[in-house]
Amino acid sequence: MATNLLSAARILLVIGGGIAAYKSLELIRRLRERGASVSVVMTSAAQEFVTPLSAATLSGEPTRDALFSLTDEAQIGHIELSRAADLLVVAPATANLLARMAAGLADDLATTVLLATDKRTLVAPAMNVRMWAHPATRRTVARLREDGVLFVGPNAGAMACGEFGPGRMSEPEEIVAAIETALAGDTKLPSTPAIGAAGALAGRHVIVTSGPTYEPIDPVRFLGNRSSGLQGHAIAQAAVGAGARVTLVSGPVALPDPPSATVLHVGSALEMRAAVTEALPADAFVAAAAVADWRVESAAAQKLKKSPGEFPSLRLVENPDILKEVSKKGPLRPAIVIGFAAETESLVENAEKKLRDKGCDLIVANNVGAGTSAFGGLTNQVVVIDEKGAESWPSMTKVEIAERLVLRLASELAKPQ
Ligand code: CTP
Repeated sequence: MATNLLSAARILLVIGGGIAAYKSLELIRRLRERGASVSVVMTSAAQEFVTPLSAATLSGEPTRDALFSLTDEAQIGHIELSRAADLLVVAPATANLLARMAAGLADDLATTVLLATDKRTLVAPAMNVRMWAHPATRRTVARLREDGVLFVGPNAGAMACGEFGPGRMSEPEEIVAAIETALAGDTKLPSTPAIGAAGALAGRHVIVTSGPTYEPIDPVRFLGNRSSGLQGHAIAQAAVGAGARVTLVSGPVALPDPPSATVLHVGSALEMRAAVTEALPADAFVAAAAVADWRVESAAAQKLKKSPGEFPSLRLVENPDILKEVSKKGPLRPAIVIGFAAETESLVENAEKKLRDKGCDLIVANNVGAGTSAFGGLTNQVVVIDEKGAESWPSMTKVEIAERLVLRLASELAKPQ
């Protein structure tokens, strides 16, 4: 859509002092490639991470970093600097910088241009997961949103500090897309996670399955699938953020355990079913795992050896359907059961059928066909289906899907059962 929007755009980029600052250099490069002009202001903390010279080289303009630079004040004052832009972008937006913005401080050039502007501001937060979840940051973010500040991200994932969760700055390409959206005048940017749901699941137990299952062929080989676990882990994290006691039953993934969740690591579908059964009872069950439908009937105890001209045949048998079992009426059925439907065609029809067949309350349908980002990607586009109908959600990050789903879960649980 917005090649033309960007080619005429003047972006004022404020780089804050976080490890993600290096990604902002890439952001400058991408914006320039698409024809935008980029003026850069760096906080003094940002200069601990990237140099003004790198930013100047990429932007083709001097980097500004001091409030009272006489030359700059003579040529272009801070008011003019912020007014000349079509959009102000803060990336990375640290907890400290966001708090200073929310408080209306103007104690350096960055906060001064942000306060002096008459244009919109888009921020890309980046901070440690606990700083992001802290009530002080939530207040800050809520206030900035009230002020009309637009947010992109943060994303969930492994962080530089070794923890997992929302807090990673969005990727440059995602920020470029958000800039295009903001320039087009659409304020419906992906919303910030962990804001509305605080305490909404307090006192509740939520079980989430995540990732693939590996079905052993022999001690070294297995049948598996491409599930990354990003969506399931993000749901577990969002439920923790909403105050729930969370049991995450995770297949083999390359993700760290979300803090504050009880994580049961499993390999096969049978192990996943056993772990879920053990974790019950629960108020809600979210089946985000891509459970293998079949397993090898009898896995070899020793590694299969090859011999010329002979090809082992694998006899497959069906795995138990964990979602269907948990959805069955009975004293242990959680009040709300949510399934996922991974489809490559006839998304809504197939998912509606799955909703009925499995007996769950809600199904999140996503297209996993070639060219989609559902498996392994950071974003996804889903259709949420219940007995009343289908609701298509816009494309958003998996963290945002998780947050929205947890809000939905909390409101379903709040209804009289
Ligand atoms: N699921 C499960 N146990 C299984 C298979 C699937 O709990 N043995 C759950 C998944 O976690 C997901 C939902 O069922 O929430 C749907 O999974 P999906 O793979 O889309 O559907 P299948 O039931 O496997 O049907 P098909 O492969 O025929 O589309």
